[in-house]
Amino acid sequence: MTINEEKCIRCKKCEVVCPAQSLDIDAKTAAEDCIACYHCLSVCPADAITNLSNITGPYFQINISPREFELLMQQRRSYRQFKSTPIEPDVLSEFISRMRYSPTASNSQALEFTVIQDQELLQKINDITIQTLTRAFNKGINPWTKPLIKLLKGQSFLNSMQRSKRKFLSKAEIAPDMITYQAPAMILIHTPSTPTGMPVHDANIWTGMATLYAELLELGTCINGFVVNAVKRNKELKQLMHIPAHHQVHSAILIGYPKIKYSNRIERKIPKINFL
Ligand SMILES: Cc1cc2nc3c(=O)[nH]c(=O)nc-3n(C[C@H](O)[C@H](O)[C@H](O)COP(=O)(O)O)c2cc1C
Repeated sequence: MTINEEKCIRCKKCEVVCPAQSLDIDAKTAAEDCIACYHCLSVCPADAITNLSNITGPYFQINISPREFELLMQQRRSYRQFKSTPIEPDVLSEFISRMRYSPTASNSQALEFTVIQDQELLQKINDITIQTLTRAFNKGINPWTKPLIKLLKGQSFLNSMQRSKRKFLSKAEIAPDMITYQAPAMILIHTPSTPTGMPVHDANIWTGMATLYAELLELGTCINGFVVNAVKRNKELKQLMHIPAHHQVHSAILIGYPKIKYSNRIERKIPKINFL
């Protein structure tokens, strides 16, 4: 990062906007803890800050109205029935690449992606996820653990765990494709394990944004928590997915061309808000 002294008008907008307090215009220094977000370049009215040039042009005037955005959020629903039509790898690459503007803690930009389109592999992942979670449910809730859970967490906590177990096991029996739903593709979002940063949040923010973006491309998505849960418990799954051993999978999304169309908008609970 260099500051062109001849161009700099000392407005110090860059100093103020810098989240890492890296810039000191008077001292003419840019500290090393710069997180490379380039807010300074973005706000500089004098074009005085240069680096290896990360500016790609001015921002556009965006004309999406708040109402349109709200409608887009309402329109986004989970899809569990997909056409068998595969999504072209180029379309998926471009989709993931365009999503790179999703924010990451300290601008780490550490998210990596694995796209699985091999249907046999997806079916295997489906089956192993069911086996893994069935084992976990049986290990977690059984005649020996129940009294302990009740003692430590209370009856309603135990009831809710038992309900989840019952629901999962009975669904696995009647819908053996309940994990991957024969979707044409699954995107796994992972990062190297790290003691710093907030990779789980980064991945989940990415996921939320991606599900909205997919709507605009007429692609349907379903976030998949079961797979993420199972990968944490079963190394075999991670190996099958070719996820490096030192990585953690934070999120998974099924994606494909939807077989159904949702026609009616659905209301949601009004959130509880505390103003202080
Ligand atoms: C973190 C998270 C994990 C989820 N995991 C699953 C999953 O494993 N399987 C599934 O069918 N749906 C999953 N969903 C989808 C929810 O069940 C769904 O969002 C919810 O029922 C509301 O429906 P909608 O997305 O159509 O509005 C998940 C959603 C979120 C946000």
